[in-house]
Formats: sequence, structure tokens, C-alpha cells
Amino acid sequence: MKKKLVGLLVTMGIVTSMVACGSKESGTSSTSEKKQLIMATNPEFPPYEFRDGNKIVGIDAEIAEAIAKDLGMELKIDGMEFDSIILAVDSGKADMGIAGMTVTDERKENVDFTDSYATSTQVMIVKEDNKDITKPEDLKGKEVGVQTGTTGDIYVTDQKGVTVSRFSKGMEAVQSLTQGKIDAVVIDREPAKEFVKQNKGIKILDQEYTKEEYAIAVKKGNTELVNKINASLKKLKESGELQKIIDKYIK
Ligand code: ARG
Repeated sequence: MKKKLVGLLVTMGIVTSMVACGSKESGTSSTSEKKQLIMATNPEFPPYEFRDGNKIVGIDAEIAEAIAKDLGMELKIDGMEFDSIILAVDSGKADMGIAGMTVTDERKENVDFTDSYATSTQVMIVKEDNKDITKPEDLKGKEVGVQTGTTGDIYVTDQKGVTVSRFSKGMEAVQSLTQGKIDAVVIDREPAKEFVKQNKGIKILDQEYTKEEYAIAVKKGNTELVNKINASLKKLKESGELQKIIDKYIK
């Protein structure tokens, strides 16, 4: 009995070392050995991130894919509520948050940001026949829809005399507008364009609400990863690949 067990352990030991040997020979590039790079996002934000069947696609997904490739890592994308992304990064559940996320001083207290990879603006969407809202100040006394936890939410909440209506998805805010339940929606320019395309009877106002910069959120203090991502971003910018990804989605 004892002998048998020893024999088994020896055999197992040999098998284990054979496996270890084999994987060493196949090199560090085999996918099973690649370290995962986990991206947290909220796929309700076309063209930056949205679902195509079960897959999360879009500008941010492709940028993340290019960064992971450059770092020799395997990308995993985790979809969640927008206001859970910073928590996921902070708790280490995700390595980076890429979600058309605007750099703000308040967020900088909880996460570090990489260099910016895109600029954007917050815009206002109203009914096509609306005549009394043309500029941000006109939102006073109105009911305005936003996606919870976004900069649109933060700005409109800070604006005096505005009633804020929060939705878990930007699209839901837009639908509430088309149904006449609210007066306007404040949201990022590119998703606004997509939502207006998909819904009749609404328009984007020419006058912008604010300008902003998108960057990647990383756990506070993880300068190693910030530096690595910045180096990848620099390569993607210089090679023109970043612009190519953007042009694929924004005509
Ligand atoms: N730029 C805005 C912000 O940072 C909205 C981002 C929303 N992104 C998303 N994937 N839903 O707050």
C-alpha cells in the first residue's frame, strides 16, 4: 500500500515536471500562459463600447485589445454599470477602466488616469420642435435626463434649478425624452449622435455643454501599469493605429 502510493507520487512528479518542461519549451507566448489584463466598462455607450451579440465591441474595446497585444497580455472585458467601474478598478477586480471616461479631479482622488486618448464634449439633446432650450442656462426649471454617475449627471446636478432624472443607460434617458417625459438629455457627443440616429424626432443642440478628455483609469498608485499603458498609447498614436480605430467608428 505504502509502496504503491510512493510509486504513484513519483509518477505524478515525473508527469508534472514533463508538463512543466513542455510548456517552457513552447515559450511564454502561448495564450494559456499570458497574463490577463481585465478591462471594466459599461457597454451602453456606442461607438466607444456596446454589445454586438455577446461580444463587447467599439473604440475602447479595440484600443484595449491593441494595448493588451502590445503588453503581451490577454484582454478580458467585464461589462458592468458605469458607476461600478471605478470601484472595480479600486478593488483590483479590474486592471483598468476604459469607458469613455472623463478625467475629473474628483475621480483622480480614487483612481489614477493615463494620458488622454480622445477629446469629447457634453451635448444637449431636445425634441426637434423644442424652441426654448438652446443653451445650458435654458435647462433651468426643466427636467433633464442623464446616465447615472457620468459627468453629465455631475454637471446637471450642480446646475441650480434643474431637476435631474437618472437612468442606468443613456439610451433610456433618450427614450424618456422621445416619450415627452423629460425636457432634455445631457450626454457625450458621439453616443448622442448614435442615439439621435436611432430615435426619431430629437436633435442635438449646436451649443455644447462642456469639453472633456477621455483617459484610462488605473488603480491609485499603480504607476507601473500607468506607465506601461502610456507607452502603448504613445505607440498607437504615433503609428496612426489609434486614429484608424477611431475612424472606423466615427465617420
Ligand atoms: N464621459 C462621461 C463620464 O466619464 C460618460 C461616460 C459613460 N461611459 C459609458 N461607457 N457608459 O462620466
